[in-house]
Amino acid sequence: MIKGILHFFSQLFASYSPQANDINTLFLRYLILAGFIIVLVAGLVITAAIRYKSKNREGEPRQVSGNKRLELVWTILPLLAVSFFFILTLQAMGDINTPYTDYGQPDIVIIAHQWWWEMHYPKYHVTIANELHIPVNKKLLMKVESADVIHDWSVPELGRKIDAIPGKPNYMWIQADSIRSYEGSCNEYCGVEHAWMRIKVIAQSQTNFDKWIKHEQEVPPSPQDSAALAGAKLFSTETCSDCHTIAGTDADKSIGPDLTHIASRETLLSGMLPNTRGNLTRWLTDPQKVKPGAHMPNFRMTKTQVNDLVTYLEELK
Ligand code: CUA
Repeated sequence: MIKGILHFFSQLFASYSPQANDINTLFLRYLILAGFIIVLVAGLVITAAIRYKSKNREGEPRQVSGNKRLELVWTILPLLAVSFFFILTLQAMGDINTPYTDYGQPDIVIIAHQWWWEMHYPKYHVTIANELHIPVNKKLLMKVESADVIHDWSVPELGRKIDAIPGKPNYMWIQADSIRSYEGSCNEYCGVEHAWMRIKVIAQSQTNFDKWIKHEQEVPPSPQDSAALAGAKLFSTETCSDCHTIAGTDADKSIGPDLTHIASRETLLSGMLPNTRGNLTRWLTDPQKVKPGAHMPNFRMTKTQVNDLVTYLEELK
């Protein structure tokens, strides 16, 4: 229990990017000042209550009104404190939102959907979903927009969050200081599956990132065994290809997530479930049972058909 509480507080101010560090430092400074003020005010109230408590209970106590010196003190001191923090806030905002107009093409384009994240790397012509890979220690420009309603990108350990608004792209810098993965989520209520619109940011060494992106650029191998071949056929006949993309096939739509390398992702359904054969089977058997409200229709496939489709998708490494 105590260990848990300590862990919570140590994580509260954990920052893994210069941007997150700016925000946390500012917050900590506010917290210290606010803490000082609350102690001061509470102290004064308690002191006054004890010290000036009426000894005899008869009649009204002496009434005092107006004290120019005190009034000046309690006007000027808060004004100075507020001005100081206004400047600190502007400074932090400037540090976090450095200009990007001369930067050129963004490194990453995020398009939020109900209820998953479409992710593009325009410079590499790569599209993925839900699990963003980035090279460590590199400041990257990210463009964030939405395909339907307002969503909000938030990965607290990496800094600010930003709204994904249909028709009005926003920009932010993203950077990670350590090689590890970072959890995030949609932070703007966007409908029934808002809670299952998780984000994973995977920061890798430059070498590993280059390897990963190169792999993502490749077309997955064609299915070999009979089950996977049947699955691939189902994929194009059962209208899966009307919503999804699999590179190297006719499927090239982005209504649903890109499935070109689905088997190499860690999770399914925007961080909802581990990417296992069992979960994929459950999902394709009855999507509404797994993620109610999701825009994936139930194709009422037989067990064999689901099995074939899963076999095919599991080969898309
Ligand atoms: Cu998307 Cu909440």
